[in-house]
Amino acid sequence: AATVRYEAESSPAVCTGAVETEWAGWSGSGFCNATNAVGAHVQFTVNAPAAGTATLTVRFANGTTTARPAAVVVGGTTVATLSFEGTGAWDTWATRTVTVPLSAGANTVRLNPTTSAGLPNIDHLEA
Ligand code: GCU
Repeated sequence: AATVRYEAESSPAVCTGAVETEWAGWSGSGFCNATNAVGAHVQFTVNAPAAGTATLTVRFANGTTTARPAAVVVGGTTVATLSFEGTGAWDTWATRTVTVPLSAGANTVRLNPTTSAGLPNIDHLEA
């Protein structure tokens, strides 16, 4: 199926923090700067035509030198983790992929940070 891009700053996505445009290179209309706290998340709603595994690509920037790990939570269940290492600058964007199980129809996919530093800036997810 064709790749679909889901922007972190666009409903039905949820950004627990602020939508910002300060650092160049984002797609859509900005990025999510989630609050620096455990659990301050970005949640996407990913549509799947049928149940099965899907590879998700997350675009992010982390201008620090410390990784900002997050659980990948699909439909309320943690299915993977992503480490979101430093990218060198806040305007240097990178992608990570993760393979997850999806149900047919709408799936919530939450990036749930596990340290008090919170998430990196999140631009979008592609599925
Ligand atoms: C800086 C940066 C933000 C980033 C934040 C953070 O304030 O400008 O874009 O989100 O650091 O540490 O999360």
